[in-house]
Amino acid sequence: MASTSELPAWHKALVLDIYPPKVDKQPTPKPGPGSAIVRILAANVLSYAKEVFSGQRPYPLQKPLTIGSSAVGRIAAIGPDTTSLKPGQLVLVDSFIQARDEPSASILSGLHEGMTEASRTLMRGEWRNSTYAEYAKCPLEQLHPFNEQRFLGSPADGGLGYTLEDLSYISTLAVPFGGLSDIRLKAGQTIIVAPATGNFGGAAVRMAVAMGARVIAMGRNKNALQRIAAGNERTEVVQMTGDMQTDLEELQKFGKIDAFFDISPPQASRSTHLKSCILALRPGGYVSLMGGQQEDVAIPIGAIMHRSIKLHGMFMYTRDDIKTLIGMAEIGVLKLTGGSGGRVSGKFKLEEWEKAFDSAAEGQASGERAVITP
Ligand SMILES: NC(=O)c1ccc[n+]([C@@H]2O[C@H](COP(=O)([O-])OP(=O)(O)OC[C@H]3O[C@@H](n4cnc5c(N)ncnc54)[C@H](OP(=O)(O)O)[C@@H]3O)[C@@H](O)[C@H]2O)c1
Repeated sequence: MASTSELPAWHKALVLDIYPPKVDKQPTPKPGPGSAIVRILAANVLSYAKEVFSGQRPYPLQKPLTIGSSAVGRIAAIGPDTTSLKPGQLVLVDSFIQARDEPSASILSGLHEGMTEASRTLMRGEWRNSTYAEYAKCPLEQLHPFNEQRFLGSPADGGLGYTLEDLSYISTLAVPFGGLSDIRLKAGQTIIVAPATGNFGGAAVRMAVAMGARVIAMGRNKNALQRIAAGNERTEVVQMTGDMQTDLEELQKFGKIDAFFDISPPQASRSTHLKSCILALRPGGYVSLMGGQQEDVAIPIGAIMHRSIKLHGMFMYTRDDIKTLIGMAEIGVLKLTGGSGGRVSGKFKLEEWEKAFDSAAEGQASGERAVITP
């Protein structure tokens, strides 16, 4: 497939300058050293996409830009120094871009320019435009090939029978996998996931179960908790009451708890679950802090010190985590469909971006997600 000359001269992209974004005709990007052009087939939509792009949740961004998220696509053209990826190959497009010369400088493609001058350099020029477009230019190391026959093939032929949209869920699962790997969650351990009823929260439950843990899923929404308990093995639930002591006592009924994974949204900055979950841990227990609280939060420092509790912050994941995750899905230990969440409720064209954002937000409580299929 496609040498550079076969790329169309123009393509459609969803461009944000001043909200709302607009579908625009743009010159199709060309591959250069260290990059490839991907025909985007299914791009993820965050449940809080509208909050971010409308400025309600003010993520810093270089504008104008083609917005986007992680995606699944086919390589359409490769740069001259590409050694293994081939045109036509089905790939996961990882939106977490780290600087090649200093990986601590990172951006979320099409979503967040990072917090430093170094990270802003990445989004300012080369990697400004993302995946809500027919074609996207991507760093080679962000592209992870799939064994297409295995993932998309029919079960009768030894395949897993997934759709392209199913594969895009791997990027959602990668976020909690980053934190769970970072605290070295082990099979046989017990972990609290809170809040467990959101898009990444639900993915964290699925991931921890696939890693062999017993999960205590915590959240406010009773119906969503019941769905999660029914859809995942080794998963029990605790409803958050807003009363720290009551919730702590409920958690203590489970006996030894090894770890707590927090994936709070900004709205949960004052939630008491952070304290009840930390206090419920065994001595030497681990906390993975992956939430997006934007205010400082109080933590029970005395208990953390006396019980040698380990607090780990984690932004996203490592590149190795993505490879491990694809391997887990390929052998079938991690299921991308069925269970309590991740079901694609709607596929939307670029022009239907608003419906996609609304569908993703509405689907949060029922474990459904939306994808953009440009
Ligand atoms: N560290 C990283 O690399 C990383 C990566 C991605 C995302 N994040 C962060 O993770 C956050 C959560 O992602 P998500 O996709 O799960 O979000 P989401 O789909 O919007 O779900 C939000 C979750 O938070 C709960 N919640 C909302 N307000 C709450 C409150 N006041 N108290 C307690 N729970 C509350 C919701 O439960 P209800 O149903 O009860 O409202 C739901 O479970 C994001 O907002 C982002 O900041 C971090």
